[in-house]
Amino acid sequence: MWDYTDKVMDHFFHPRNVGEIENPDGVGEVGSLACGDALKLTFKLDEKGRIEDAKFKTFGCASAIATSSVLTELIKGMRVHEAAKVTNKDIADYLGGLPEQKMHCSVMGREALEAAIDNYRTGGTTKHELEGRVVCTCFGVTENEIERVIRENDITTVEGVTNYCKAGGGCGGCKGEIEKIIERVQGERAKELHAARPAKGGKLTNIQKIQLIQETINEQIRPALRAHGGNIELIDVVGDKVIVAFRGMCAQCKMAGFTMKDVVEARLHEFVSEDITVEEDAESAQQPHTHRG
Ligand code: FES
Repeated sequence: MWDYTDKVMDHFFHPRNVGEIENPDGVGEVGSLACGDALKLTFKLDEKGRIEDAKFKTFGCASAIATSSVLTELIKGMRVHEAAKVTNKDIADYLGGLPEQKMHCSVMGREALEAAIDNYRTGGTTKHELEGRVVCTCFGVTENEIERVIRENDITTVEGVTNYCKAGGGCGGCKGEIEKIIERVQGERAKELHAARPAKGGKLTNIQKIQLIQETINEQIRPALRAHGGNIELIDVVGDKVIVAFRGMCAQCKMAGFTMKDVVEARLHEFVSEDITVEEDAESAQQPHTHRG
């Protein structure tokens, strides 16, 4: 049995917005029945350009159903350009996390959304087309897609790539190439992070500081928390005060105070500035905790 959150189970047993909209403004289809997962997303806009309805049809496991259901809930009320910014992490975070082996379901949701938005913008009715060179022929995954999941989710292993987009999960013939892509992308990310840091004694602008805080959370802090079923969200930055909210297992952990000082604050001191202090968002701290099912 997978370690699913209550929210995943809720959306699996009671999926919202199942079906297909007649005369939709956007249609996106991804996956294939041969691979075991497929998703069709349709949405309709109101006269103000907001997504007033979204529906899905999916063929897949509990995570595929739950992520599709949540995706439709997430994008309702959004303008198209806002929906275009929804990532697979947003979908997984909304569910309180997904087992690593099931993260590819959240990626499928994001791809269906992109295809539907593309269909709305271009008017085309073709299926989501593969962009870039195909690296994994077993699952039809391109280099662009592999690079994207590595960047967005800070993946450092071939197994991680397989969990997020299935590449490498068939014959295994592409594993060597995936390893090289990981090495290249992580090398580029390390350089980018290094370049964003101020020279010794240099001062960051507010925008640089917020960017660096967000990058440090994404790359240095979140992976450590995720390994224990937790998560963290940056809420605000006020001067040197960083306000965060713990999610998932971290939200109910008695060690949250320790995590705040010895993980979050320590990493931000190391990568951003010694002057930073971290506080938990008062509103989030009072919200009911999530529990794993
Ligand atoms: S080519 Fe990627 S697993 Fe077979």
